[in-house]
Amino acid sequence: MSSSINRRNWLKSGMLLSAGLAAGNWSDVLAESRKTKKIPQMLPSGLLEHEAPDIPPMKARLLANENPFGPSDKAKQAIKDAIDTSFRYGWEGKREFVNLIAEKEGVTPDHILLGAGSTELLNAASWYFALETEGKIISGDLTYDSLIRTAAVHGAGCDRVPLTSDFKLDLKGMANGIHNGTSMVYICNPNNPTGTTVDSKELEEFCMRVSTKTPIFIDEAYIDFTDNPEEKSMIKCIRKGYDVMVARTFSKLHAFAGLRIGYLVALPATISKIKEYASGGGTISATSSAAAVASYQDTDYHKYAYDMNNKSKDYLYKTLEGMGMEYIPSETSFVLFPIAVDAQTFRKQMFEKGVGIQTRNYKDQDYCRVSIGTLDEMKVFTKALKEIVA
Ligand SMILES: Cc1ncc(COP(=O)(O)O)c(C=O)c1O
Repeated sequence: MSSSINRRNWLKSGMLLSAGLAAGNWSDVLAESRKTKKIPQMLPSGLLEHEAPDIPPMKARLLANENPFGPSDKAKQAIKDAIDTSFRYGWEGKREFVNLIAEKEGVTPDHILLGAGSTELLNAASWYFALETEGKIISGDLTYDSLIRTAAVHGAGCDRVPLTSDFKLDLKGMANGIHNGTSMVYICNPNNPTGTTVDSKELEEFCMRVSTKTPIFIDEAYIDFTDNPEEKSMIKCIRKGYDVMVARTFSKLHAFAGLRIGYLVALPATISKIKEYASGGGTISATSSAAAVASYQDTDYHKYAYDMNNKSKDYLYKTLEGMGMEYIPSETSFVLFPIAVDAQTFRKQMFEKGVGIQTRNYKDQDYCRVSIGTLDEMKVFTKALKEIVA
């Protein structure tokens, strides 16, 4: 198949899928996946895993919140060093990694479950709650749908609570929306795709009040990009014995999207239930866990990645402001902003200019979600944006 045909097919399938989403046909996608008993092979971007190799070369790939500033040199060196012993299963390296996390977070190692990326852990939690506890998930709208979609395949519905007027998850609305049939709360904080965080005190109170009846899953994939991750993280509630689960990924600040490292922190009793649906870290390679140990301790790199992300984000903000465009201030490595053009057409035109982005539709308004890339990538993005919306 020629690359131009590949590209056409890829664009077409992406457009069809995102058209379905924009038109609110998500229920059709779910109905189909219930029939086939398969997880919908679809991301809102229309980026299909099995078609990924057909993605046309891009000048700026800003559609998956990947971190172009890493991995850190120490992580790369650790991978090289680990190759010679990688004929072994690498249990020791994973144990070292778990112990490091436990020490930093002030919990015991049995509070931690490793995964090859946090998606494995989101899936495991959604399978556990969908299959072993009858009930519905409650979450926000808009939010990151991965856990919700996987649970839906196994028959668990989701009550959706719209965002507040400043695009934050509505904790009061969620608390009020919990009923006897609610199995768990899913909170993405900072939230994808809005980039917003909820007030830490309010969230902590919410966790302590609600989790005594309903377990709470908090997806902290982007917490390292906030100004105060320690304060904003709800791992403190787990330390106090509340039934809160916190998922973390190395795909974002640590730039490990392709290396696949994630972990879940929760009460040991909760970990042992969710573990039944996960690999327990068995899917992580010895090289990746060695890299994770190095990257976890490389605080200079953390600061570097955080600063570089903010530099590119500031450039984006200034450019949007200069164009008279609004945006939702983001504490993450992506920004959501309203567009006055049709989302599907916009995505296609951006792709044709070599720029990959995602779009969303919320309350009849189309939005662009752009990942933060290098300064050069942001320049490619803003140039294309100006040409399209001018
Ligand atoms: C909010 C959120 N959670 C989890 C993930 C999954 O990341 P990974 O499986 O790479 O850890 C993503 C990926 O973009 C995300 O945006």
